[in-house]
Amino acid sequence: MVEFVDADTAPARNTGQVRLYNADAFAAMRKAGGLAAACLDELEDLIVPGLTTEAIDEYVMAFAQRHSVLPATLYYRGFRHASCTSINHVVCHGIPGPKALREGDIVNVDVTFISDGWHGDSSRMYRVGEIRRAAERLLNVTLKALNIGVAAVKPGNTTGDIGAAIQNYVEGERCSVVREFCGHGVGRLFHDMPNILHYGRPGDGVRLQPGMIFTIEPMVNLGRPHVKVLSDGWTAVTRDRSLSAQYEHTVGVTETGCEIFTASDRML
Ligand code: MF3
Ligand code: CO
Ligand code: CO
Repeated sequence: MVEFVDADTAPARNTGQVRLYNADAFAAMRKAGGLAAACLDELEDLIVPGLTTEAIDEYVMAFAQRHSVLPATLYYRGFRHASCTSINHVVCHGIPGPKALREGDIVNVDVTFISDGWHGDSSRMYRVGEIRRAAERLLNVTLKALNIGVAAVKPGNTTGDIGAAIQNYVEGERCSVVREFCGHGVGRLFHDMPNILHYGRPGDGVRLQPGMIFTIEPMVNLGRPHVKVLSDGWTAVTRDRSLSAQYEHTVGVTETGCEIFTASDRML
């Protein structure tokens, strides 16, 4: 059985307990999440064929400086960039570099900002010029998978209800859900309990309570679900080299459902 603790009195490390946050924390997360969403919104006009992922990362870094927040991934477990940039068959944790985006690519940009100690974590997909029909379908399925997961967030439901809803939808669309990476509790810590699996069985996992804060970030593949991590220790790719997509929100459980801290009407 999982234990719940008041986030204000619990130790500031991952103890396996699930923290419950108060209204002040929700206000702080609104700000942190809002900045992550605003940054990702600004990238929409920047991302065109010929741009390098390094240039995207520099933009994210400059955004953070302009808003006096810190990119959480910078020096996180040896990662040296302000964002993750994952192109085509890269599932997640792509390392920004000198490679230029090409017409028809799809790219995920994942940013987390630390604002007054609070982490706002979000990612979305960008279309580089005109993309193929199969890629467009994958993006639509993956965004809808995230939204279906978010719709399952309400007190009384479990984390397994979120995963089951996502998996059921994605597999019904003849796509697959990546198992190796999951959503996570987030707040003053970047990666905390509980794990939010994007697959599973209804009723399994942790029962949701008002005050919980976590991410939902399904990775969906056009082909098989299996991934491998490249020798750089970060870049996760699909084993069959099929296209992969991901969208991520940070949400807080309310009395009636949830608040999406990273919401944007430009997340398409
Ligand atoms: N932002 C990612 C997440 O959604 C984590 C990236 S960790 C990094 O949890 F080190 F790869 F940047
Ligand atoms: Co995350
Ligand atoms: Co993220």
